[in-house]
Amino acid sequence: MVSERAGAQVLVASNRGPVSYALDEKGALTARRGGGGLVSGLSAIGPDAGAVWVCAALGDGDREAARRAGGRLDTEDTGGQQVRMLDIPADVFGDAYNGIANSVLWFVHHLLYQTPLEPVFDDGFRAQWASYEAYNAAFADALAQEAAPGAAVLVQDYHLTLVPGMLRERRPDLRISHFSHTPWAPVDTFRMLPDDVAAQVLLGVLGGDRAGFLTRRWAEAFADCCRTVLGAEVTREGGDGNGDGAGELSVTYEGRTTRLGVHGLGADAEFLRERAHRPDVDERLAALREQIGPGRRTIVRVDRTELSKNIVRGLLAYRRLLAGHPQWHGRVVHVAFAYPSRQDLSVYRDYTARVGQLADAINSEYGTPDWQPVVLHVKDDFARSLAAYRLADVALVNPVRDGMNLVAKEVPVVSERGCALVLSREAGAYEELREDAITVNPYDVNGTARALHEALSMEDGERAERTKRLAAAATVLPPAQWFLDQLHALTGS
Ligand code: F6P
Repeated sequence: MVSERAGAQVLVASNRGPVSYALDEKGALTARRGGGGLVSGLSAIGPDAGAVWVCAALGDGDREAARRAGGRLDTEDTGGQQVRMLDIPADVFGDAYNGIANSVLWFVHHLLYQTPLEPVFDDGFRAQWASYEAYNAAFADALAQEAAPGAAVLVQDYHLTLVPGMLRERRPDLRISHFSHTPWAPVDTFRMLPDDVAAQVLLGVLGGDRAGFLTRRWAEAFADCCRTVLGAEVTREGGDGNGDGAGELSVTYEGRTTRLGVHGLGADAEFLRERAHRPDVDERLAALREQIGPGRRTIVRVDRTELSKNIVRGLLAYRRLLAGHPQWHGRVVHVAFAYPSRQDLSVYRDYTARVGQLADAINSEYGTPDWQPVVLHVKDDFARSLAAYRLADVALVNPVRDGMNLVAKEVPVVSERGCALVLSREAGAYEELREDAITVNPYDVNGTARALHEALSMEDGERAERTKRLAAAATVLPPAQWFLDQLHALTGS
């Protein structure tokens, strides 16, 4: 049902919104604004566009804020953005977010299952799946209420795959897109999902007029799944007509066509260069330099402590480098920032512990009184990340699989003396950066160690030249343009 107010012309829906709240013992709420591509993307259309962002309450603070607001949040908290935060019951949210989105769909798209024992799709899974449906329906209901006739609705990510289809049923007048910020699984992996669930996910996304992906590779994988699982027709317009060439892909199923788009989110050079030179970053740079010690090279990595980021193999490769190249002893430091993520899941807690243990083991094996081979920081600190970007000689980005990986794009933009990029061929960013990166197979620890040695040994001139080209390739599609391109593709304007 359309609400009485005129409704929004542009709506964004995502699990995590642009603001979160902490609740203290006295019941006071403190708002904290987040960053990221969507936040800066949406700012490109300005407050007059009257866009509304629908997101979920993630914790107790958010839930309380959503209840107190009873609709849109206070725009002072959100930086002017109209935000509706959904107070979905905590158990339903938990099952949908931790159970299905992060433990099933994320695992499928990032190839994270250890298949001899998992996944197991049983009654427990079915109960969680029902929650995922309810959580998606809550979004579809809110969007249906908030949208003006004919509005454009941009639905984000694997948490909300069912929303486009559900929303189309409720409001056939809307223009709807879905965007995947993750990779899309190869068809053989995707088909691990129970057949009805696999079909539901695909049909959910196909409920939209457009489905967007970060790279051509993920769009092709989605099209393959539609063809194999649903028997849908996949067509290419333009391109070389031979299958893999460029050209727009579309999927037709039961008479409806969904166009697939590729929008490779880039780094925001203007923001990063300004932010990276503020006093708080300078301070952290000085502290890091002191911790590293004079005259040493640095291998920097900055990640959430996320299974797919491959931090453990990165550390093993660094250990292999030290074992095979004693000339680097005392002359290199691995600066590894591994920020907490999804700590409600035991597999993430175990992985976090493993990262810490391995860093300690390398430090006790190789460290000396005046050289700490691994400097590991686990407390999220954006200013310190930027400081590390500034001083990096080598950036290590070795995910087993990643939708894009913005760190690979941000480091060359911020680095002061030029930075060699060791990049996994399984990161989406590889499509745009491969020519000037040193690319690795993320499972090959010895190969990664060789790549680190090559990166550390690169001549200054070559490193600077490559960094310039990497920075140019990384900033082709900054967040504002990335968002506008999708909006225009959807509205045809
Ligand atoms: O695409 C994956 C994504 O949703 C990103 O947008 C974000 O970086 C990450 O996952 C964060 O996950 P979470 O919200 O679970 O912390």
